[in-house]
Amino acid sequence: MKFTRGSDTGLWLLTTSVSYLALFSILVSIPELALAQPNEDDIACLHGFQSMAKSSDPALFNNWTDTAFPCNTTQDGQRATFVGITCSSSRVVSLFLSDKGLTGMISPNLSLCRNLGILDLSQNSLTGTLPSELGMLSYLMTLNVSHNQISGPIPPEIANCSYLHELDLEHNRFSGEVSTALATLQKLQILDVSHNDLVGPIPTGLSNTSDGRPRFNASSFEGNPRLYGFPLPYPKSRTLSILAIVGIGLGSGFLSLIVSFTAVCVWLRVTEQRLAAEEGKISQLVPEYD
Ligand SMILES: *[C@@H]1O[C@H](CO)[C@@H](O)[C@H](O)[C@H]1NC(C)=O
Ligand SMILES: *[C@@H]1O[C@H](CO)[C@@H](O)[C@H](O)[C@H]1NC(C)=O
Ligand SMILES: *[C@@H]1O[C@H](CO)[C@@H](O)[C@H](O)[C@H]1NC(C)=O
Ligand SMILES: *[C@@H]1O[C@H](CO)[C@@H](O)[C@H](O)[C@H]1NC(C)=O
Ligand SMILES: *[C@@H]1O[C@H](CO)[C@@H](O)[C@H](O)[C@H]1NC(C)=O
Ligand SMILES: *[C@@H]1O[C@H](CO)[C@@H](O)[C@H](O)[C@H]1NC(C)=O
Ligand SMILES: *[C@@H]1O[C@H](CO)[C@@H](O)[C@H](O)[C@H]1NC(C)=O
Repeated sequence: MKFTRGSDTGLWLLTTSVSYLALFSILVSIPELALAQPNEDDIACLHGFQSMAKSSDPALFNNWTDTAFPCNTTQDGQRATFVGITCSSSRVVSLFLSDKGLTGMISPNLSLCRNLGILDLSQNSLTGTLPSELGMLSYLMTLNVSHNQISGPIPPEIANCSYLHELDLEHNRFSGEVSTALATLQKLQILDVSHNDLVGPIPTGLSNTSDGRPRFNASSFEGNPRLYGFPLPYPKSRTLSILAIVGIGLGSGFLSLIVSFTAVCVWLRVTEQRLAAEEGKISQLVPEYD
C-alpha cells in the first residue's frame, strides 16, 4: 500500500492533533491533580507534629491516617473531615487542637504547613520550646499556645509572621526578655504574655504606639514578677519595702526611746532607793542628841 503525499500529511496532521489534544488534556488536568493530592510539605508537617506530641484523646491521631490524609479529595470529590484540621485548596489552613490532652513537644515541622493561618494548641500540657521555625509561617494570623508548660524564650523570629493578629502565650513558662522585634508586628491586635517567667523591660513599641498612645494593657504583661515598665504598675514589692524601711526606722526609734526612758526611770528609782537607804544608815549611825 502506497500513501500519497496528501494522505501522508493527513496522517501527520491527525497524529499531531491527537498528541496536542493529549498534551492539552494533561495540562488541564495538572491543577486538578494538584487539588486532589495532599501537599508533600503538609504531610511532613502533620507527621512531624504527630511524632513529637501525644494526645489523650485516641480519636484525634487515629483519625489522621495515611490512607485518607487531611486535604486529600476522594474520587467523588468529597473531602474526609479530620478532627482539628481545616483545609483550603488542598492545603492545611488551620489547626484547632485546643484542649485535646496533648503532651510532648511542638514539632518544628509545623513550619512546613506553609498556608497555616490559625494555630491553636491552647489548653494542653505541651512542654519544650516554641520552635523558631514558626517564623516561616508567612500567613499566620493567630498563634495561641496559652495554658501549656512551654519554656525557653519567645522566639524573636515570630516577628517574621507579619500578618499576625493574635499572639496568645499566657500561662506558660516562657523566660528571658520580650524581644523588641515583636513591636514591629503592625497588625497585632491581641497580645498576651501574662503569667510566665519573663524578665526585663517591656519594649516601648509594645507598651505605646509610635504616636505615644498606649498599645496593650497591663493585663497583657501581668504575672511576670521580674518584668517591668509601662503599662505595668510600679512593683508593689518595692513600694512595700520602702514602707517597711520607713516603718522599721520609725518603730525602732520609738522602741529605743521607750527603752532608754524606762532605763532612766529604773536608774532614777534605784538611785533614789540607794540614797534613801544610805540616808537611813546615816541616821542610824549618828546618835541622837536631844
Ligand atoms: C519533618 O520534615 C522533614 C523535612 O523537612 C522530613 O524529612 C521529616 O520526615 C519530617 N518528620 C516526620 C516525622 O515526618
Ligand atoms: C488520596 O486519596 C486517594 C484516593 O482518593 C488515594 O489513592 C491516595 O493514596 C490518597 N493520598 C494520600 C497521601 O492520602
Ligand atoms: C474523623 O473523626 C470525625 C469526628 O469523629 C469524623 O466526622 C470523620 O469522618 C473522621 N474522619 C476520618 C477520615 O475517619
Ligand atoms: C525572617 O525573614 C527574613 C527575611 O524575610 C528571612 O531571611 C529569615 O530567614 C526569616 N527567619 C525565619 C526564622 O523565618
Ligand atoms: C486562646 O485560647 C484560650 C483557651 O482556649 C482562649 O481562652 C483565648 O481566648 C484564646 N486567645 C485568643 C486571643 O483568642
Ligand atoms: C506611654 O504612654 C503613657 C500615656 O500616654 C505615658 O504615661 C508613658 O510614659 C508612655 N511610656 C513610654 C515608655 O513611652
Ligand atoms: C484595655 O482595657 C480596657 C478595659 O479595661 C479595654 O476597653 C481596652 O480595649 C483595652 N485595650 C487594649 C489595647 O487591650
